[in-house]
Amino acid sequence: MTDMILERRHPEASTLPRIECAQLPTPVEPLERLGAEIDIPRLFVKRDDQSGTLYGGNKVRKLEFLLGDALDEGHREVWTIGGIGSHHVLATCIYARQQGLEPSALHFPQLVTDHVLDNLRALSTTRPDLTLVGNKAQIPVEVLRTKVREWLARGPDVYYIPGGGSSAMGALGYVNGALELAAQIEAGEMPEPDYIFAAAGTCGTIAGLTLGCRLANLDTQPVGVRVLDRVLSNSATIIKLCRQMASLLREHGVEDVPSIGPSDFELLHDYLGDAYGVPTEAGRRAIQLADTHEDLTLEPTYTGKAFAGMMDMREALDLERATVLYWHTLSGVDLSDRIANADVGANLPDEYRKFFD
Ligand SMILES: Cc1ncc(COP(=O)(O)O)c(C=O)c1O
Repeated sequence: MTDMILERRHPEASTLPRIECAQLPTPVEPLERLGAEIDIPRLFVKRDDQSGTLYGGNKVRKLEFLLGDALDEGHREVWTIGGIGSHHVLATCIYARQQGLEPSALHFPQLVTDHVLDNLRALSTTRPDLTLVGNKAQIPVEVLRTKVREWLARGPDVYYIPGGGSSAMGALGYVNGALELAAQIEAGEMPEPDYIFAAAGTCGTIAGLTLGCRLANLDTQPVGVRVLDRVLSNSATIIKLCRQMASLLREHGVEDVPSIGPSDFELLHDYLGDAYGVPTEAGRRAIQLADTHEDLTLEPTYTGKAFAGMMDMREALDLERATVLYWHTLSGVDLSDRIANADVGANLPDEYRKFFD
């Protein structure tokens, strides 16, 4: 069941393409024990870990629009890109299959952890068409080459979803997310937050939240914690995505869409550590604290680093006196059945075997 509040607030937006695959609204909850422990007493969580039944996390809101767009335009396949442990690739393949679309992806290697291997096992159950490149630097060339090859071979059948699902169409899912939060505030489920913290990778989540907060007239500052290389994750990307989303909304008749500038959000750059996917000590501590004090599971690549960034800003942003919302972007769906049924030998290309050795 999906509550598409964007359409309720702006009926004109019902001409936007979308499918219903998310479970919305996701709950907001106080994190009293953890908040007391880290001296951020008015700490809340937005439970996007519960955003879907097949898979949760932040990709589901984006996929409602992206797969809707793909189906609207009559495509039969989707293809996307990401690291071998990518949540985005996994979510896209799961929901593409659910919608009767053929999934394919271009993969690049990343640090192999148990979490990455489990994601690969789960991914194999969707029987995607996968291509592995040698390293991340090859991605732009490979994307271009694959695009040309796919287009020549299968023409307009294939719908391209950029890394992280962060096109303007995908990021609209988080405009809807911010409007959903505004409705929960109006309903008294939580006070209006001064800050929203979320992991920033390809930036679609934080861009959508930024535009959505302004559209909903919330006096809230979204703060992204960068977990990916700066060339891909930066303020210019956020502002560009906001501009493109605003154009899309205007094209669909939504009036008075605000224009977004650098003062409408914050992007923190000090919490990536050595590289994307490489755990940090502060991230490990955040994971442990969340696990000890709440029913909140973080991981090292995105959410541990985001939570660590938030904790570190306590003094600089005076979070002891602020209302703070941590937007939880990791799927909480138990994949153990899917993983137990995986046959990676049969459903992943041979070159993936090395990751399991
Ligand atoms: C768990 C999790 N959190 C946050 C993000 C980052 O979201 P975005 O790419 O929209 O910045 C991702 C992206 O893959 C993710 O998997």
